Amino acid sequence: MSHLIVQDIHKSYGALTALQGLDLTVEKGEFFALLGPSAAGKTTTLRTICGIEAVDQGRIIFAGEDITGTEVRGRDMAMVFQSFALYPHLSIYDNLAFPLRQSGMAKGDVTQRVNEVAEMLRLGHTLARKPGTASGGEQQRVAIGRALVRRPSLLLLDEPLTNLDAKLRFDTRAEFKRLHRELGMTIVFATPDELEALSMTYLLQNHLLRGVTFGTIKK
Ligand SMILES: Nc1ncnc2c1ncn2[C@@H]1O[C@H](COP(=O)(O)OP(=O)(O)O)[C@@H](O)[C@H]1O
Ligand SMILES: [Mg+2]
Repeated sequence: MSHLIVQDIHKSYGALTALQGLDLTVEKGEFFALLGPSAAGKTTTLRTICGIEAVDQGRIIFAGEDITGTEVRGRDMAMVFQSFALYPHLSIYDNLAFPLRQSGMAKGDVTQRVNEVAEMLRLGHTLARKPGTASGGEQQRVAIGRALVRRPSLLLLDEPLTNLDAKLRFDTRAEFKRLHRELGMTIVFATPDELEALSMTYLLQNHLLRGVTFGTIKK
């Protein structure tokens, strides 16, 4: 069975229809693109998949279970926001520890898990600092790390390269390639840029671009 099945999702904000009958199917371990211009509904799609936003109609099936009504924390997935959305008043260590503490994990286990993720993302030297003192690339890696600490089986990335300069885009693409290979996660990512979608999937899946294009398909 497919890892993620989105069936006939509808979502409106007042009079504005953001999603009108969206369907998509993502296989386990796949790197799947949501491609479309600004305001096409990409972020709304990611937010409904992870449960930050409730759908008006339709179903979300994940790992064989209907999770349409499941709260955010009960879903084995995490989202990296386009703006990173780090907690500015917390240290980078505490940003990474936050989702684990929320889930009630014991202190020793939190420390171990945070250190593992920090090492994987080369953030060890930044842990005591506040996010505001970190470089753009480090902030991006903290945002990714905060999503990875709970070891979700599905990672949702909202325009992961848009706010980065050219050099960082290159490094970040390589980082995702490594994470995808090492962790075997299913990744769904949104991008407004067809070349970016191709370059991400080219690195990861040998030319094979699978995804949904918003605006030209049933939406
Ligand atoms: N919280 C919200 N309240 C009202 N309208 C919203 C809200 N979130 C998104 N929208 C609208 O829904 C549409 C889709 O937005 P979004 O999913 O953010 O698109 P994208 O990520 O593709 O740029 C847009 O017209 C946007 O203005
Ligand atoms: Mg968006």
